[in-house]
Amino acid sequence: MSLELDQATMQRLGHLVADHVARHLASLRDQPASRVLARADAERLVATPPPAAGQPVEALLETLTERVFPYHAREPHPGFLGYVQGCPTFPAILGDWLAAGYNFFAGAWGVSSGPTMLEVTVLEWFRQWLGLPGGTGGLLTSGGSTANLMAVIAARHAVAGDDPALLPRLTVYASDQAHSSLIRAAWIAGIPRANVRILPSDAEWRLQPALVEQAIAADRSAGLHPLMVLATAGTTNTGATDPLPELGRLARREGITLHVDGAYGGFAALSATGRTQLGDLSGVDSISLDPHKWLYVPFECGSLLVRDPKRLRAAFHILPDYLRDLDVAGGEVNFADYGEQLTRYNRALKVWMGVSAWGTDALAREIEGGIHRAELAAELVGRSPVLELLSPARLGITCFRPRRPGATPEELDALTQRALERINGTANFFISTTRLRGRQSLRICCCGWRTTDDDIARLIAEAEAAVQG
Ligand SMILES: Cc1ncc(COP(=O)(O)O)c(C=O)c1O
Repeated sequence: MSLELDQATMQRLGHLVADHVARHLASLRDQPASRVLARADAERLVATPPPAAGQPVEALLETLTERVFPYHAREPHPGFLGYVQGCPTFPAILGDWLAAGYNFFAGAWGVSSGPTMLEVTVLEWFRQWLGLPGGTGGLLTSGGSTANLMAVIAARHAVAGDDPALLPRLTVYASDQAHSSLIRAAWIAGIPRANVRILPSDAEWRLQPALVEQAIAADRSAGLHPLMVLATAGTTNTGATDPLPELGRLARREGITLHVDGAYGGFAALSATGRTQLGDLSGVDSISLDPHKWLYVPFECGSLLVRDPKRLRAAFHILPDYLRDLDVAGGEVNFADYGEQLTRYNRALKVWMGVSAWGTDALAREIEGGIHRAELAAELVGRSPVLELLSPARLGITCFRPRRPGATPEELDALTQRALERINGTANFFISTTRLRGRQSLRICCCGWRTTDDDIARLIAEAEAAVQG
């Protein structure tokens, strides 16, 4: 039996899947924001031995609809305000389907010049949106974690190369608000764990240049070798942005690299308010940005831009005999030379489709809307007699908790946790928690474009009811 399907069958099955997804997306508001199964129940519903004989796709779709799809957190749901939600637009989803349908190999120009040029193009868009200097380049990645890792490896290679004496002496500097992926990137890149300096953030949750400077001086006098500052534009906890111009000047003075994790906040640069909150990004050496967050592209899609992309190529380029036919010179790019992946699928297609179908004006308006909704939430919390703001609204994120005068910190933490359970128990909303200076906090991330001002008002009312109930 051939695995080939005739054209009419492919079209029929493709339409079936497209109908299914369209129905799902159009009915999100009527669905619970999240449903989770315990492992034993999930096994009972889902786990099967691999079938020796095939089954019709229609039957498979039915199985998935009944047994698998209901049990997930619906990140594109208007009430999903937890973590950092993925809320892709439909044209961007279509871009992903096209990339899978054509199965482009996005590692080498010689087998994928058109799609590779699309990746060059969207990276150039990103560069322009962020105001980074000409010549900045990079690649699309699976997400922000990989982008951060590529950045640290490139910097490590540029400074330490293969010097076995230098590697154990490298140090990096981040705030206590840095995303865990930055810390893990340093670990994976071989920076000794004891040399990852986590410095206390200031009252605005930002890395303090003076503390970085002191730590660098202390490390140098201890015979260590400062490698890079790992700063953030839009922290996961509170949306704070580190003082990047000042850190840039410090990094240049010290002759070290400034990498910025803009995985969450970076695309806010498309909007006027976002640009103001991010400030000047032009002095960074590298920056991570996640299109699968605030550029409304489906998972997985991150990116890394590096002021001197030759650093990436120097760290990753390798040319085995069986790939010599594909080596390039001149302006052509093999993205496999710039990162850890050889076989890469074409993530640029979904970025290009999403951005081109809507245009940057519409996307900027949506980003502005996310920033506004977090500010609205902060305003409502500020007016509430039973809630307390723990961090100001920044880049779409607001943190708050119950206000209960006279309660001990432990009682407040327990009350916060109970409020979370009540809010998420409604199934209309899904929010998450974090800890801010040791205090349990409710946290909402408002960048999903389906969420309305009314949703925010209902959520805060729900939180007040949860605290009072
Ligand atoms: C600031 C920041 N950096 C990095 C990451 C990691 O990105 P990813 O999950 O795409 O690997 C996240 C994820 O939320 C983030 O918020």
